[in-house]
Amino acid sequence: MSGTKATLTINDKSIDLPVSSGSLGPDVIDVKDVLAQGYFTYDPGFMATAACESKITFIDGDKGILLHRGYPIDQLATGSDYLETCYLLLNGELPSPQQKKDFVDLVTQHTMVHEQLTFFYRGFRRDAHPMAIMCGVVGALSAFYHDNLDINNPEHRRIAAIRLIAKIPTIAAMSYKYSVGQPFAYPDNKLGYAENFLKMMFAVPAADYEVNPVLAKAMDRIFILHADHEQNASTSTVRLTGSTGANPYACIAAGIAALWGPAHGGANEAVLKMLDEIGSVENLDKFLAKAKDKNDSFKLMGFGHRVYKNFDPRAKVMKQTCDEVLAALGINDPQLELAMKLEEAARNDPYFVERKLYPNVDFYSGIILKAIGIPTSMFTVIFAVARTVGWISHWLEMHDAPYKIGRPRQLYTGYTQRDFVPEDKR
Ligand code: ACO
Repeated sequence: MSGTKATLTINDKSIDLPVSSGSLGPDVIDVKDVLAQGYFTYDPGFMATAACESKITFIDGDKGILLHRGYPIDQLATGSDYLETCYLLLNGELPSPQQKKDFVDLVTQHTMVHEQLTFFYRGFRRDAHPMAIMCGVVGALSAFYHDNLDINNPEHRRIAAIRLIAKIPTIAAMSYKYSVGQPFAYPDNKLGYAENFLKMMFAVPAADYEVNPVLAKAMDRIFILHADHEQNASTSTVRLTGSTGANPYACIAAGIAALWGPAHGGANEAVLKMLDEIGSVENLDKFLAKAKDKNDSFKLMGFGHRVYKNFDPRAKVMKQTCDEVLAALGINDPQLELAMKLEEAARNDPYFVERKLYPNVDFYSGIILKAIGIPTSMFTVIFAVARTVGWISHWLEMHDAPYKIGRPRQLYTGYTQRDFVPEDKR
């Protein structure tokens, strides 16, 4: 608390509001007291609302800064690995070598799912979107761990976090295997997290499968870059769901549902669909004009960000990884070439420059995932795999301190009270 006060004057009434300072970022005006004076505050989209206190992630969108527990994302992406980043997000500090080994061993011990869970998949149509399967199967996990579902028990909370981080790649890969009619691949605990995921995605019993180390590194980096992003829509959904006392599996299923939308985690899939729609380089100008036309709902997917009004720091590392993967695979794909031309055109177009609409992390991750051979429908699933640690870290942080059930209010603009009209009089 900085000791400063803000004063809100409404007609002849003044309300003193305390101002709190964080370690970084804008000061926060505590508006709780306006309720007692008969007011709500109004902030659709929560653009100016801090809904909680958090120590996990800091973003300065204007400067293009993203820190996890104080460490810049580019340093983590190039110097760390995904499971180490998970440890950091969950515990607040980087692990010692022994702590890291213990953590990796613990996660690795939990990679398998209950055999009974495999039957859930058969309830879905083969052409179901894998995100639809993810919402259902992750929600169903609570039916398997009811002996460890006391959210007031820190040990139960902890083990749920480990189970979710460990099993989500297995569940994700199974949703893909189901859609292509191949047998589920069991995790291989000799492999690292990203390698194991690639093997579960692509290995078949009839052939040997060697994980390409360049692709495993790129996958690990995609996981790190998507691990957490402060109070975004899906994380806020997890916190809001968690605030009712819901179990962690239900909370993460809610987060997955929120992530699915094309304005959030669905954007990387939308990028590839948009490239399909554009078709070829000759059509670029036409589609750029559509994106700029206010009367046209078409937007350039993978451009712009609610918070970053500068280059997304994750996109910088992602672009570098994208270049590495394309070079390593020697890929010569007209769609990827189109993506690069589109990026160049938009970054030199005054409409996008003036509005600070830079390519976001999903623009490049979509291209890398396509190059790795991941089908488009799995893109958002991979985002969900990576973000599970962020969601569960916020859920744990929320439960480590007193919290209130989330219950926003509204500006009601409907009818005032009126009398019911019986059916024969309408
Ligand atoms: N293409 C064309 N114009 C755009 C785009 C775009 N992708 N994004 C924003 N604009 C325009 C808006 O029309 C607006 O123009 P105006 O000032 O002339 O009215 C201006 O840029 C500012 O845009 P806002 O709507 O204020 O941006 P906001 O912060 O609300 O939205 C969002 C951000 C939702 C991400 C938006 O940029 C968008 O829809 N982008 C495409 C989808 C996408 O890539 N989402 C991924 C986000 S990253 C993530 O979830 C990990």
